[in-house]
Amino acid sequence: MPSPADFPAQLGRYVIERILGRGAMGVVYLAFDPHIERQVALKTIRRELAPGETPDESAHDLTARFLNEARAAGRLVHPNIVAVYDYGEAGDTAFITMEYVRGESLAAHLTEHVRAGSRMGAPRALRWFVQLLDALDYAHGAGIVHRDIKPANLLIAQRGECKIADFGIAHLDSSYLTQFGTMLGTPSYMSPEQFTGDPVDARADLFSAAVVLYEMLTCVCPFTGTPSVVMQKVLNDTPPAPSTIAPDLPGYIDAMLMKALSKRPQDRFASAREWRDTLLAELAADNEDAERTVLAYASPAATLDVAPASGKSTVSGASRTWPPEWIAQLEARLASHVGPVATLLLRRASASAADVNALRERLATYLPDEAARREFDSLLSQLDAGSSRARPAQKISVDEVSDATRQLTTYLGPIARVIARRAAASAPDLQTFHARLLDTVPQQKDRDALRRAWKKNTTINHD
Ligand SMILES: Nc1ncnc2c1ncn2[C@@H]1O[C@H](COP(=O)(O)OP(=O)(O)OP(=O)(O)O)[C@@H](O)[C@H]1O
Ligand SMILES: [Mg+2]
Repeated sequence: MPSPADFPAQLGRYVIERILGRGAMGVVYLAFDPHIERQVALKTIRRELAPGETPDESAHDLTARFLNEARAAGRLVHPNIVAVYDYGEAGDTAFITMEYVRGESLAAHLTEHVRAGSRMGAPRALRWFVQLLDALDYAHGAGIVHRDIKPANLLIAQRGECKIADFGIAHLDSSYLTQFGTMLGTPSYMSPEQFTGDPVDARADLFSAAVVLYEMLTCVCPFTGTPSVVMQKVLNDTPPAPSTIAPDLPGYIDAMLMKALSKRPQDRFASAREWRDTLLAELAADNEDAERTVLAYASPAATLDVAPASGKSTVSGASRTWPPEWIAQLEARLASHVGPVATLLLRRASASAADVNALRERLATYLPDEAARREFDSLLSQLDAGSSRARPAQKISVDEVSDATRQLTTYLGPIARVIARRAAASAPDLQTFHARLLDTVPQQKDRDALRRAWKKNTTINHD
């Protein structure tokens, strides 16, 4: 336990309480902001001199970059990103203040598991991971790449959320300090392109996130050793499939992680959003209660986004019961715009709509543009017009569902699995099943190609 003499009593207006941790850039303190009357985490930066550099040049260069990055990170407002509050300089120390996350880093959780010889349960790991992807999607959308996603920079708050720390600033230490040959810490989470000096974009964060997920699920870091051994492994080796270490993992994890750990950025998931949607679709497909799953895994931001719909749904006694096949078709169509959260949105909208027009209005609020709203209007009109026709129920075979899923995946991605399963549950015959799936494909040329393929296979005319 450090004595108070080991650290300054105050930096700027912030009263230092204790040391939270140390990293390559400097010390992180717990401090108190007397103006706002709250605790903050205060990160100081150490200034190292490059050979031949004067202290003034070094200080100027690093603090300017630190300030610049802190400004960019300060604009990020997301429940799964540690908020940056302020930048300050006191004497020769530059610092940023940020949200104090009461809890432990993911690195500490992992160490605990390794010590206990246990593994983190997949549901917990995946819940944190969906939050991580959600935050990355948001930051990448704002043009900011983290470049140092690793367990020490993922803080697990006491209430269980996962928050990314050091956005935009974490890489300064390595980029600054390694330029004169000092590799600090372990590069186990760095992407191949960060080692080779090739251009780095958001997909580098996705590679690092994949290494973190691998470690969360198996409790084994796939690339370990001295920095040069790690570099060789990251550039050349394919780690063993996670299921060889943790055999009880969900079946889709191996392929998902192998794709995410691809050496070439173009072979990985194209974006955090794509990966998140894939994972949510897998989780929903794996679980009978898809709505609960999506809600449980969605980030607080996504949950907030859908909250207004439930607010509107209190028109007492005004809802009606909708035919299950309407729900299945509307959900499939909605999912092609908003992803797996469609299940939840549709349930909320249909629970509160008294008639077709009310349903139309509610659904319109979830759709991205006018074209999508027109498409929805015409689907609703079709359903309304044909609702009096009663059809005999007929099961679609498992093979028919899996064939259709495979083909539909080409156009819709992983959500196809959820859509096909739902369409099969309510379609009275194969022809209707295929027609409903065709309805979810956005492009006319793709619909035509799919229709032709199904005609060839089944010799049933869907028109
Ligand atoms: N906002 C915060 N709230 C609470 N604790 C924090 C916060 N930021 C950092 N810490 C703690 O301080 C420790 C040191 O953080 P720091 O970012 O300096 O180093 P690091 O991320 O562990 O490693 P590196 O220097 O290689 O980035 C973290 O591991 C964490 O335990
Ligand atoms: Mg850090």
